[in-house]
Amino acid sequence: RTNAEVPADLAGRHVVVSAGGTREPLDPVRYLGNRSSGKQGYALACTAAARGARVTLVAANSALPDPAGVDVVPVESAVQLREAVLKAAADADAVVMAAAVADFRPAVYAPAKIKKKSGAEPEPLALVRNPDILAELSTDRPRAGQIVVGFAAETDDVLANGRTKLARKRCDLLVVNEVGETKTFGAEENEAVVLGADGSETPVPHGPKEALSDTVWDLVVLRFP
Ligand code: CTP
Ligand code: CA
Repeated sequence: RTNAEVPADLAGRHVVVSAGGTREPLDPVRYLGNRSSGKQGYALACTAAARGARVTLVAANSALPDPAGVDVVPVESAVQLREAVLKAAADADAVVMAAAVADFRPAVYAPAKIKKKSGAEPEPLALVRNPDILAELSTDRPRAGQIVVGFAAETDDVLANGRTKLARKRCDLLVVNEVGETKTFGAEENEAVVLGADGSETPVPHGPKEALSDTVWDLVVLRFP
């Protein structure tokens, strides 16, 4: 789309996008993390702003610059991301969870740096589950008629896994893409299929993350009450 063709169909709407990847702290200097660059979430925020939305971008550890005209809330861990997303979602028309949220976090946070003991083998790392923010939002919608979108990266049986996940999470739309060693993480381009809770299936051909973002917003706008 050229600038003149950008629809203002998100004018008057508040949308929340989470982006990046959470870091789960072990001690003041260490964390468990993932390779999410944040590019897809930032592209979603930029395209929503271009379409007239007020945008809250809950950004977990992305190196990308703050997009112009977007309200950026920086977070680190899944617990912090949950708090920021739920707060912003209270008056939101749509929430898109593009962040890679760690499934587990260290069971114990050591307030002082963990030291190795001379000669001893390391202790196994105990983990506990993080809250499932997408499932929580989808189940108790903070606002009636709110549209909730999830992302899923799958390495195999992409469509079948996506359908199962969509049903389990109870979101309205699930963007499913195939990932591997080189695919998607940090890449400029993306290829995906957007599954709808209504049974719809929208393939998005290989292309820039902005194009996938625009398709997501098209599908969200169609679902507004
Ligand atoms: N998600 C979330 N909270 C979590 C984990 C994931 O909100 N604790 C969201 C992600 O932001 C994404 C969607 O759920 O939008 C799917 O994430 P994914 O990791 O594919 O789902 P999981 O339920 O964690 O399944 P898996 O066991 O395949 O990792
Ligand atoms: Ca997961």
